[in-house]
Amino acid sequence: MVEKIKKLKEKHNITIAAHFYEKKEIFELADLTGDSLALAKKTADIKNPLVFCGVKFMGESAKILNPDIDVYMPKLADCSMARMAEEGLVENNMKMLKENEIDFIPITYINSTAKTKAIVAREGGLTCTSSNSQKIIKWALSKNKKIFFLPDKNLGTNTAKKLNKTAKIIGEKNWQEADIICFNGHCSVHQLFMPEHIEFFKEKYPDIKIALHPECQPEVVKMADFAGSTSQILEYVKAHSTEKIAIGTEANFVNWLKKNINPNIYILSSTKPECPSMNETTIESLYNLLKAIDEDRGYNKIEVEENIAKDAKKALQRMMELS
Ligand code: 13P
Ligand code: SF4
Repeated sequence: MVEKIKKLKEKHNITIAAHFYEKKEIFELADLTGDSLALAKKTADIKNPLVFCGVKFMGESAKILNPDIDVYMPKLADCSMARMAEEGLVENNMKMLKENEIDFIPITYINSTAKTKAIVAREGGLTCTSSNSQKIIKWALSKNKKIFFLPDKNLGTNTAKKLNKTAKIIGEKNWQEADIICFNGHCSVHQLFMPEHIEFFKEKYPDIKIALHPECQPEVVKMADFAGSTSQILEYVKAHSTEKIAIGTEANFVNWLKKNINPNIYILSSTKPECPSMNETTIESLYNLLKAIDEDRGYNKIEVEENIAKDAKKALQRMMELS
């Protein structure tokens, strides 16, 4: 099947992009790989049709930043965190901020729908990813405003801690006083990592390093040696290529790191942390899509309504300019 995919890809001059969390066989045949920021940048420059293996907001961002190309996805699986920041809820939260006379800049994690990005842009805000959240939040705080951060309360709180700022979830006690006010969303995969997982590994291997994604809960991040985006975790593992490391992020990526960079890697959990949305894309679904494109019946072509795309693009471009 891999050979058939390669032939179809070549025949139609298709670029395949894949996020680090995709299944290993897909990741290994992709032309462009990386974390969400790297993929948004890399796919913005291409001229040929794109097949994006990842979650829906990634394909959408690629289409918004590069509207002249055809962007397809083998599966339109959405990130569950992106779905939490549903349009009506985001607008209600912003209304609450305004009723409390809070002067704020909204920042949405790129893990959000195009509609949410557009709403944020209309309020003068922008996007960030897990690799540039500190830089973007720092920039916004320099405008002497509070931040409304969405959808991920954990990334918002962990970034606030790094910058010595306060964070609270909207609606919780004294939320109005915080520097960074967070929407109440989270990642159901990273939410699984617990302090006792770190305690278990530290007890078993006292020298072990703990690296995880900043979507993990603050009490877990506090105990780790390193927290960073998927690309930053990759760099950390390369820099500690002979040490034992327990990693708190999606299993496909951790297993790839173990196979390719450092055999002394462990998944920081007793259960397999799999992102159901990323794992919807399989080698079969990739092949089926390429075959359909070959037969002129391509499907899952990403289209974003013009007025949403226009505003969502502003939110993405403001981030690109700063990072
Ligand atoms: P990265 O920005 O590190 O690629 O993370 C995306 C993501 O969905 C993490 O759960
Ligand atoms: Fe979304 Fe979490 Fe999956 Fe990342 S791991 S795509 S944040 S559900």
